[in-house]
Amino acid sequence: MTAKFNVAVLVGSLRKDSFNLRLARALTNLAPEELAFNFVNMDLPLYNPDRDGDALPESWRQFRDGIRAADAILFVTPEYNRSIPASLKNALDVGSRPMGKSVWNGKPAAIVSGSPGGIGGFGANHILRQSLVFLNMPAMQQPEAYIGGIADLFDANGNIARTDSKTFLTSFMSAFDAWIARHVDR
Ligand code: FNR
Repeated sequence: MTAKFNVAVLVGSLRKDSFNLRLARALTNLAPEELAFNFVNMDLPLYNPDRDGDALPESWRQFRDGIRAADAILFVTPEYNRSIPASLKNALDVGSRPMGKSVWNGKPAAIVSGSPGGIGGFGANHILRQSLVFLNMPAMQQPEAYIGGIADLFDANGNIARTDSKTFLTSFMSAFDAWIARHVDR
């Protein structure tokens, strides 16, 4: 089946062995077939308006192109100090400028936060939502996904080990697919 919607995946951890990266990969495997995924590089130089012209970093340009090409955005992020990691906030800032040329505008989004702790990155999840309001991105509200105990979520092959978690995450991705269809004209 040909994919109907292209989804950019933004993982808020730069760590090679990131649990959230593992979770993001698992989510793409549980998603309906009409969704195609592209993991976008988030390791970007800090946003500085002075560089947003002739000195534009190539990675910013590629990042903006990657978001522009997407119909929707899937955020999968850890929580850092009860907020979002700086890499993710920086990526939001890079994509939001130059003024009036934000690549985020109108793109539907879904947020999954994951943590080894019990609260499942609730703080990061909701702080991210605050920026998405300003960026004019309709963020799926239900189901919410705060994944606690993320270090114990996977089997040796990186698949979701627990049946109930797998069922929930599959329904989350189906709901996201329906959310995208509501917001993207095809
Ligand atoms: C953390 N961690 C963390 N966890 C949490 O639940 N709430 C928090 O506020 C924080 N704060 C925090 C700050 C910083 C700077 C680091 C490096 C870590 C722990 C974090 O959830 C844990 O390291 C995860 O494994 C990070 O996600 P990845 O990299 O495995 O995807």
